Amino acid sequence: MSDRIYNWGIVGLGRIARKFAEDLQRLPNARLHAVASTSHERAAAFAADFGATHAFGSYEGIVSCPDLDVVYIATPHVLHFENAMMCLENGLSVLCEKPFAMSAFQAHRMVETAHRNRVFLMEALWTRFIPAVDYAIALVDQGEIGPIHTVKSDFGFKMPFDPQSRLFNKALGGGALLDIGIYPALLALLVLGKPESEDIQATASFGPSDVDETTAFTFNYPGRAMALGHATLAATTPVEAWLHGTLGTIYLHPRWHHTQKIRVSLYEGRNMTEREVDLPYEGWGYHFEAAHVMQCLEEGWLESDKLPLEFSVELAETLDAVREKIGLSYE
Ligand SMILES: NC(=O)c1ccc[n+]([C@@H]2O[C@H](COP(=O)([O-])OP(=O)(O)OC[C@H]3O[C@@H](n4cnc5c(N)ncnc54)[C@H](OP(=O)(O)O)[C@@H]3O)[C@@H](O)[C@H]2O)c1
Repeated sequence: MSDRIYNWGIVGLGRIARKFAEDLQRLPNARLHAVASTSHERAAAFAADFGATHAFGSYEGIVSCPDLDVVYIATPHVLHFENAMMCLENGLSVLCEKPFAMSAFQAHRMVETAHRNRVFLMEALWTRFIPAVDYAIALVDQGEIGPIHTVKSDFGFKMPFDPQSRLFNKALGGGALLDIGIYPALLALLVLGKPESEDIQATASFGPSDVDETTAFTFNYPGRAMALGHATLAATTPVEAWLHGTLGTIYLHPRWHHTQKIRVSLYEGRNMTEREVDLPYEGWGYHFEAAHVMQCLEEGWLESDKLPLEFSVELAETLDAVREKIGLSYE
């Protein structure tokens, strides 16, 4: 890596934007250069906190910002498409929060726009870049636990019902599936690939704001494997994951989607050997995806090799299929 400094911008200055900005400070080649908010006061305060040079009181402001290398989109789900398209059409590289878009149709258009404008685009699926998760996936790819027959994971936390919050507000893309159910779906696709729509089963319970508060799904990979996922905003669950292969199991300790520890159990007849693997890190864990983006930009790549755009489109198609099964629709 050269000693070049990459100038980041952030659009939407909520909770995740702040954590991301804190993690950027861990990367010597990253600098928060510009921030954009719907409120000029919030933008100015955020910029002051992190030493950003430019503070915009509208999202559109960011496209005219000089010397910007990449924009991180951290708005509610329903705005990802519009905000990402604005940046891509203006020649800016984008790291866009999950879910990438509200539908596979939107995801396709974002990818097509990035290609046409020859700019970098990636979904901010930070889990893919967490060292312990990355290591678990590498072990699976190397055949350490044999062919995988089951992937199981959950993600649940109890959120008091608030119809205005983005987690419950349908107009903001609320619901468990798109916010946290995306993680079990992500793990299934990382390990087993995209399931066919007809091999997806899903069920959900809906709350008073007409979004799913709990969703459970199975993806069947006929004759090969199965994935089970569960997500809920109604109860706190362990947030664990298991990858079961014919030779052993990899367990991702809680909270698995940014875990610092995995356990590898190998079976030989009736004997079992176990090893714990610790891959600790400091910070929230968002610096790994940010570092990867800068590595890609350094190489001149227009997409990530670890998280290609086709993967994000397939994930969006899978979420569309789950939504169809549970009857979850948005405007
Ligand atoms: N990767 C992760 O671990 C992770 C974790 C949490 C969230 N996320 C993702 O990040 C995105 C933002 O989540 P968050 O938890 O940061 O949300 P948040 O705290 O509610 O912040 C969202 C920001 O978006 C802007 N915004 C624009 N229109 C809005 C509207 N109508 N209602 C509310 N906010 C609006 C606001 O920023 P301004 O006032 O500055 O315009 C707001 O502060 C979501 O898509 C979520 O899936 C990812």
